[in-house]
Amino acid sequence: MPLTIKLPLDCVLASSVVLMATGGFAEIKTDNLRCEYLKNPVGLDAVSPRLSWIITSKQRGEKQTAYQILVVSSEKLLGEDQGDLWDSGKVASDESIQIVYEGRPLSSRQECFWKVRAWDRDGQPGHWSQPARWEIGLLKSDDWNAHWIDAAALPVSSAAPVLRKRFTLTGRKIVRARLYVTALGLYEARINGQRVGDHVLAPDWTDYRKRVRYQVYDVMGLLKKGDNAIVALLANGWYSGHIGNHGYQFFGKVPALLAQLEVAYADGTSERIVTDESWKVHASPITSTDFMQGEDYDARRELKHWDMARLDDRQWAAATVRDERSVALEGQVMEPVRQICEIKPKAITEPKPGSWTFDLGQNMVGVVRLKVSAPAGTVMTLRHAEMLDSDGTIYTKNLRGAPSVDHYVCKGGGTEIWQPRFTFHGFRYVEVTGLSKKPPPSVVTGIVIGSDTRRTGEFTCSDSRINQLQSNIHWGQRGNYISIPTDCPQRDERLGWMGDAQVFIRTATYNADVAAFLSKWLTDVDDGQSPTGSFSDVSPNTQDAGGVPAWGDAGVICPWTLYEVYGDRRILERHLPAEIKWIEYLRTHSTELIRDKDRGADYGDWLSIGADTPKDLIGTAYFAYSTHLVARSCKAVGRLDEAAKYEQLFQDIKAAFTKRYVAPDGCIQGDTQCAYALALMFDLLPDDLRPKAAQYLQDDIEAKGWHLSTGFVGVSYLLPVLTQEGKADTAYRLLLQDTYPSWLFSVKHDATTIWERWDGWTPEKGFQDPGMNSFNHYSLGSCGEYLFGGIGGIRPASPGFKTISIEPVIGDGLTWASARYDSIHGQIATLWKMRNKKLSLEVSIPANTVATIRVPAKNLESVTESGKPAEKAEGLKFISQKGSFAFFEAGSGNYHLSSTVE
Ligand code: BGC
Repeated sequence: MPLTIKLPLDCVLASSVVLMATGGFAEIKTDNLRCEYLKNPVGLDAVSPRLSWIITSKQRGEKQTAYQILVVSSEKLLGEDQGDLWDSGKVASDESIQIVYEGRPLSSRQECFWKVRAWDRDGQPGHWSQPARWEIGLLKSDDWNAHWIDAAALPVSSAAPVLRKRFTLTGRKIVRARLYVTALGLYEARINGQRVGDHVLAPDWTDYRKRVRYQVYDVMGLLKKGDNAIVALLANGWYSGHIGNHGYQFFGKVPALLAQLEVAYADGTSERIVTDESWKVHASPITSTDFMQGEDYDARRELKHWDMARLDDRQWAAATVRDERSVALEGQVMEPVRQICEIKPKAITEPKPGSWTFDLGQNMVGVVRLKVSAPAGTVMTLRHAEMLDSDGTIYTKNLRGAPSVDHYVCKGGGTEIWQPRFTFHGFRYVEVTGLSKKPPPSVVTGIVIGSDTRRTGEFTCSDSRINQLQSNIHWGQRGNYISIPTDCPQRDERLGWMGDAQVFIRTATYNADVAAFLSKWLTDVDDGQSPTGSFSDVSPNTQDAGGVPAWGDAGVICPWTLYEVYGDRRILERHLPAEIKWIEYLRTHSTELIRDKDRGADYGDWLSIGADTPKDLIGTAYFAYSTHLVARSCKAVGRLDEAAKYEQLFQDIKAAFTKRYVAPDGCIQGDTQCAYALALMFDLLPDDLRPKAAQYLQDDIEAKGWHLSTGFVGVSYLLPVLTQEGKADTAYRLLLQDTYPSWLFSVKHDATTIWERWDGWTPEKGFQDPGMNSFNHYSLGSCGEYLFGGIGGIRPASPGFKTISIEPVIGDGLTWASARYDSIHGQIATLWKMRNKKLSLEVSIPANTVATIRVPAKNLESVTESGKPAEKAEGLKFISQKGSFAFFEAGSGNYHLSSTVE
């Protein structure tokens, strides 16, 4: 039974934190089976996929001492405990993540069922886990009989055509049916009137010149004996619609569909229905659709039975077959974009006669589901905006070239419900015109979409403003992790900006399981690298520009972060060649290791406040940091010679940095917060200068009235660096500051997402320059990492949280804080409360891991665990007292520590 810990009365936002209970059964369990990070994935390309599970146990200090994996080709065999594909046998190991499948070679379409059991710390075996499965996709090009087809024969190519095929199935018993499908563009597939799967905006965005991801659906339940129809709507999306502020039809002009329906019968026979010239095409009621423009739908053009076999499509035009053989087909091994939740309007106003403005109360990303009843031909216009102007009308100037307007033409005859399929908007407010009278709230429902990464973190504390900040950060991630990590969801941009992605990644990993999502994106990153080794500014690369410090470095920082968080060595192995090319590019574009050349568009500490950090300094600092990470990555994968080579290069760059930029008293050129944060974070200073530089950093913050001045680049390091240098009080002051510029300034002004600029709106000046003023940019929210890793104190001590560091930073201004993080090894949680120098600290450590817990305490004697002297507590071992902290080693379990703090 889970144990619910009651929080103090002032815990307004968090009613409870659920931790695992101690005591009770001594049984070890293997749970939460994952393959390539996903639950029961279908369509894997990896023929030696990696398996992970979570160990749970009711006893403290639980460890896995051995495991056994069984992989079988049919579910039946699992019950018989025979591994016809793989029986790992009993493996003496405490590893429970990233276990590489080493069974019989797997081929296309192979279904694999698996289970695992573990032996506990006393060598006793636990029960087998519940079964899980994975399925291999189509590995070889000749697995595909389907041809790319399009609807170029139709007059209106910009809209979303219908492509369809009728087919007949005999009555033979179907044992397996899969639809392998993708598009250059976007598709929505249907069989016999029913939607196939629940993906939105599929397939996910890639550089279509190089690869496209296909999806696999189990469609057995949709097929029937006799006549069937398979239908797809096809749209431009990222392929041939507007992307960014300059790209139209960037990858191609006309979207195309590729589909292969495979039906296997009990008698061993099978058949395939594939896209080819026999498919028919027709215009759909979607008369226009585009990410930036919006979507138009004329319900009067709906065709009865359009997605059913009974429609006679003989008069429809034929599909056109197209040669796209050069585009590699790969399975989509990541969570798709899905509808995440729905939001009901909080208020309705009429700022202008007939313009009804619905406030959803949350800046969100997705579309509106409209529910209206009006005569045929009535046009409903939906305009979307993040903010209101001073007169109460919607503020759309900051959308730039993204009108974000949807139109719905009613067919008449009763209630009509519609929601756009192939566009999305970033908005809190929706203005609806075309209604004849005051509408009820039910006219508008906000449909939130996003890449459906599993939520893994929650943070709450005694300051409701910080809780709102965390909510804003999480909503920013949800709305900008759409297929790829984007910069913003509303204006004509929505690109995979690399700088934004890397500054936010550490925060993102706390909020959600982004391993599969970012692993896929890192392929887009490598695809975008230039032959000279320069990483691009955006990935997928639609600008053919790159080489910018802190932006290009995402190509190194992101794989490294995935390694740290998920223990993923393969991601390092896969990306190291590209990373090394990047380091050599940086070396060539430097003079004596100072990055003084060819820094591309050179964004510097983007959007800093009156604090210009020299751009060559930023370039050199990132050159050093990336080199250091490459050295560590080489070491992690056993490439020791290269590790030594790049470690030496890092030391040389460090020396060059100090020589060029650092005065003997620790003052760094530019004297900006960003410069100090980078130098301290990236280990670029001799030891004796660190405290001096940290003091300069603090002095600058103080001189600015305890305000920050960094932009995107320095901001994520500020709080960790201050804390690391013994200046946690200053970190707290910065975090709790609510006057401009600060994180809480936007919170104070009703923000529900993170703003792009510190001063996106101010009472004095109103809106910032609409040329660049998004209200949903996550970069400045990269302080989220500090909420979990600093205040909550949860950090990995070794890759994948196999060993954990619990070091909550407790400071003035908060009386309690609670953090939960579902690591790849299981749930880690902390809850601290401080009153009158008495600390209560509850910690939950997952089985098969070990943590070091730092307890603020005047001495060991003042520390108790569940009321008893901490030294005597089961599972807890005192390590040392250092200053005002007592350090313990803790095995898995729940601990309730109390101490007296000086
Ligand atoms: C984007 C940013 C991006 C930047 C480069 C902007 O337009 O929205 O977030 O990193 O350009 O400076």
